[in-house]
Amino acid sequence: MAKMSLDDLRKLRDTKKTDIQRREAEGKEIQVIVGMGTCGIAAGAKVTLDAFLSALDDHKLVDSVLVRQTGCMGLCHSEPTVEVLVPGMPTVIYGRVDAACAREIVSKHLVGKALLDDHILDRPAADIMKG
Ligand code: FES
Repeated sequence: MAKMSLDDLRKLRDTKKTDIQRREAEGKEIQVIVGMGTCGIAAGAKVTLDAFLSALDDHKLVDSVLVRQTGCMGLCHSEPTVEVLVPGMPTVIYGRVDAACAREIVSKHLVGKALLDDHILDRPAADIMKG
């Protein structure tokens, strides 16, 4: 086998990463994305992530919801932050999502299809991006 250059290796890594992400997401239209940047973790995002996983388990939703981690969402003041994507509903970013709130998001938003108004945040710089 011919030697691979650094560029070849990078391309291979990117292709594999995309394949893995696609496979993970297959059949899972609902997504819960937890901000795990430094400030998110400092504010308890790991506990939030665990709470989502256990609530999804309780509701037998583990196979239909993709739980992902992301970095900083630019909303330090409201960590832990979580983005929720449910088909047919607006994409929502929730802030100050502790374990109790995570369980509420699963039961009310994911199962009951209702938003938790008290925890909804605006996307950072959404006003600038519109213009
Ligand atoms: S480090 Fe806090 S919002 Fe980015």
